[in-house]
Order: sequence, then C-alpha cells, then structure tokens
Amino acid sequence: MTDPRDVIAAKRDGRAIPEEDLDGFVRAYARGEIPDYQASAFLMAAYIRGMDTAEALALTRAMVASGETVELRGVTRPIVDKHSTGGVADSVTLVFAPLAAALGLAVAKLSGRGLGHTGGTLDKLESIPGLRTELEADAFVRQVEEVGCAVAAQTADLVPADKVLYALRDATATVSSVPLIAASVMSKKLAVPTHHVLLDGKAGSGAFMKTTREATDLAALCAEIGRGWGRAIRAAVTDMSQPLGEAIGNALDVAEAVEILSGARPGRLHDLVVTFATEAVAHFMGAGREEARTRVEGVLDSGQALASFARMVEAQGGDPRVTEDPWAVLPRAPVIRPILADRTGYLAAVEAEELGRASVDLGAGRHRKDDAIDPAAGIVFLPKIGDRLEAGMEIGVVHGRDEDAAGAAAGRVLAALAVSEEPVEAPRLVYGWHGAAP
Ligand code: URA
Repeated sequence: MTDPRDVIAAKRDGRAIPEEDLDGFVRAYARGEIPDYQASAFLMAAYIRGMDTAEALALTRAMVASGETVELRGVTRPIVDKHSTGGVADSVTLVFAPLAAALGLAVAKLSGRGLGHTGGTLDKLESIPGLRTELEADAFVRQVEEVGCAVAAQTADLVPADKVLYALRDATATVSSVPLIAASVMSKKLAVPTHHVLLDGKAGSGAFMKTTREATDLAALCAEIGRGWGRAIRAAVTDMSQPLGEAIGNALDVAEAVEILSGARPGRLHDLVVTFATEAVAHFMGAGREEARTRVEGVLDSGQALASFARMVEAQGGDPRVTEDPWAVLPRAPVIRPILADRTGYLAAVEAEELGRASVDLGAGRHRKDDAIDPAAGIVFLPKIGDRLEAGMEIGVVHGRDEDAAGAAAGRVLAALAVSEEPVEAPRLVYGWHGAAP
C-alpha cells in the first residue's frame, strides 16, 4: 500500500491521487489499519481542496469495495430506489415505496435512522406496532418480489467505510463537503443493484444544504457519479425551506402517509411523491410525463397503493389495520396541545431545522446514537409559506409526554416563523433535475 502520507500530501497540494492509492487508503482505514489522525488529515485536505468528479467517483468506488454488496437475484420487477438527502416532514419514501409497488415496480430500500434534526424512514415505520426492519437477506428479497417493496435496516457490512468515515467527519467538522457527501450517499445507493436511482436533493432551512447552489452542486455531482458507475440516475433539487408535509415525528408521519396513500390529502408532500413516481414510470415504461402522471394518480386514487402498504406492513410483522384506521393502531402521546398563531399576516419564512430540533427534543429523534425514541411524540405544522395567518388561529399541534415539554415546543415553533404584512409567494417545489432524462 502507498504510504498514507503520500495520499494526504497529494490532496493537500491539490495533485491528482491515483485511483489505486485512494482505494488502498480508504479500504485500509475501514479495516482499522490507518489511524484516525491520518484519515482526519485527509478529510480536512479533501474538505478544503475539494474533489473533481473522477476523484469523487474513485472515492465512491473504494467505499463500495470496502464491504459487501446486496444480492437481488430473483427479483423480476424493475427496481427503483428513491433517496432523500434529509429534511423535515419528509415522508416521501413511506408513500413512494408502496405506490411504486402498485405500479408494478420494485423498491428494495435499505434505510437509515433519523440523522440530526431530520427524520428516518426506519424510525417512522417502527412506530407501527410489531413492524420489524431487521430483515434476513432472503426474506428481504422475497418480499421485494412478492409485495413489490421492502424497507429494511442497512447491515453493518454494507459500505463499512462510510460508517467510520461519517463518524470521523462528524468529529472533525468535515461533514458539509459536497464531494464527501456525494460519495457517502452514492456509495450506499450503488452497493444495492437497483436499475434506477431517484435522488431528492433538499435545499433550504430544513436541509443539510441551506442554499439551492450547494444542493445543485451535490445533485449534479451525484448524477455524475451515477453516470460514471453506469447506473441510471435522476437527481432533483427540491424545496426544504419549510416542512414538506405536515407531520414531524414518527407515528404522526405514518398517519399522514396513510392519508396520502388513500388519495385523500393534497399538498406538497403528495405532489413530490407523484413527481418522483412519474419519473420512475416515465423511465421504465417509456411513457411521456403526462401519461405517466395520469397513471400514478390513478393508482394512488384507486387505493392500490394503500393496499401495497398494508401488504408491506404485514410482511414485516406490523399491524396492517394501520391502513384502515391509523389511530386505532398507532401510539398516542399523553399530551396533545394546539399551537395558536401569535401574529396576523402572511407566513414568510420557517426555520424548518428548528421545528425538526423541537420535535427531536420532544422525543421523536435522538441526541445520541443509542437513545430510544418516543414514536408518539412530534409536531404537526399546518401552514405553508404564503398562507394567511390570523392571530389565535390553530396552526399546528404538539404531541408530547407532558405539558411543560409540549408548551416549550409550541413556543419554539412560533419563534421559528417570520410573518409579513405583504403577501408572500410560495416557493417552488422542484428547482431542477440532473442526470439523463429517460
Ligand atoms: N447523508 C449521508 O448519507 N451522508 C452524508 O454525508 C450526509 C447525508
């Protein structure tokens, strides 16, 4: 193996690192053969110097090669993956997976838990009593083929380099680097042999990328990495300047997803799910966008997507009655308290990250990796930017374990809002797409 100091020095001085040297460095670090201080020096050099597309692709390849890849032999349906870079009230996957299944596609989703102020699909699903996300490899593949969708926890041997590098980045202030994030995200996508990846790159106050510029750079680089690998990918940049849906929690998100799957709830979360499903149908079935959208909406409105969700929940040991009467099954918080607007005017801005953090502090997320979460806790926030608020009107609900916690969360929500006397235009939902169109 090349001396790690040569790899660090090359990055420090802005010289190209030969692919095999980068590969050796990353895999040796994942095996514990390179100390944290050398990996930290490399990460900081990469953070400051950046990486070009070829180097980011080489890093991604090395990270994938550090562990096992998933086998999906036996799945005959076209397999699509949809991944969000993380946001607030972002339950797209909960709705997208069964919707895609009902459209004849397959979603084999290996998911993570909540990260920082953002929610995680596994935590949300596990709020359904009995539902398991630790699935054996065989059972996972069988479910993908038979039901059309399965959502399971990532195993320890999938991209182990990402686990150790992410923890080191977290401890060395090197998380927010476009190439490092792109390699981290794409390595986990490419280690699963799907046919098409849909990436939702979030931009705004509730995202890790606060500006559309940064989110666009990330989406474009992820699309390039996918192309370099030979995987079909479309990467969107979408709005996260406010919560996407209304529910910021776990059981609350499941209940909202069930409403959307019932065809009963319009709004930005619904619209984004339909946008991604339309992309998938257009890609696999060669349909034009109009025709694809009509098909997606038809399947959603007919109840077929909801039936797929019930099958997925049941296959993973959960109570499928959650799709008929969510609150007969889901846990409820002891204190449910309304949030009343304290001003009159137009909602102009929302500190979405603060809403996510307030929900975490209610128990919906973790401060430490091993913290237990409270599946019933969270916040429902109703208005969207541009909506008219009247002082005293109910704009949301806090679900908490006691009055003090709920009161504190309600205060934080109000403090996170900017209200204007002048009308405000709603932000766009999708800022742009990267990667080859079907
Ligand atoms: N999500 C990831 O998977 N990796 C990152 O680096 C950031 C967000």
